[in-house]
Amino acid sequence: MLDKNSSLVPEQEIPVVRVKDKRFRVFIPYEDIQERIRIMAAAMTREYEGKKPIFLSVLTGSFMFAADLMKHINIDCEIAFTRLSSYSGTSSTGKVEMIMDFREEIKDRHVIILEDIVDSGTTLSRFLPILEEHQPASIAIATLLIKPEALKYKLDVPYVGFRISNEFIIGYGLDYDGAGRNLKDIYQVVEA
Ligand code: IMP
Ligand code: MG
Repeated sequence: MLDKNSSLVPEQEIPVVRVKDKRFRVFIPYEDIQERIRIMAAAMTREYEGKKPIFLSVLTGSFMFAADLMKHINIDCEIAFTRLSSYSGTSSTGKVEMIMDFREEIKDRHVIILEDIVDSGTTLSRFLPILEEHQPASIAIATLLIKPEALKYKLDVPYVGFRISNEFIIGYGLDYDGAGRNLKDIYQVVEA
């Protein structure tokens, strides 16, 4: 578990990158991400043995997480992708639409949603009812990151990689205005 005071590598060695107008420094190194993912995958493998689950990766942010996680899922399973859009003039009226439908039939199937990060929880709390319309046998949420202080909805998230403080992060699939998704590690914004 990490909080904003955590330092995984000595301060002077922390690489800083510039993305657009902001500076970011390494927050969770790639190796730590991989270690957590292996633990998450082991738990899922135990839980879903014999259930032939469908992992549903929410694009774009979760593509790296999904790819790395799946390598450690050693049971019969499928992967599908969806893309959600949140039209939120204000956060309270935020509406979520599925702009890329998944073709797999999920009726009576066990679905594990793969998310990069749960922030306010708006996206998932709006997406769950849409998914439930397809009558899956079960739905579970797996997220690499969660910001518990930012959470505005009651969400059951059984699989969490890292609980982090309320700061903006990029890398490993997460973007700042479209940039930074390709970074191997997770970076935290450095306040000017
Ligand atoms: P929520 O609907 O507020 O839970 O936000 C979920 C989405 O917002 C995530 O799937 C990300 O795409 C994006 N997001 C939230 N926090 C961050 C962040 O710190 N960096 C980059 N994207 C973020
Ligand atoms: Mg996302």
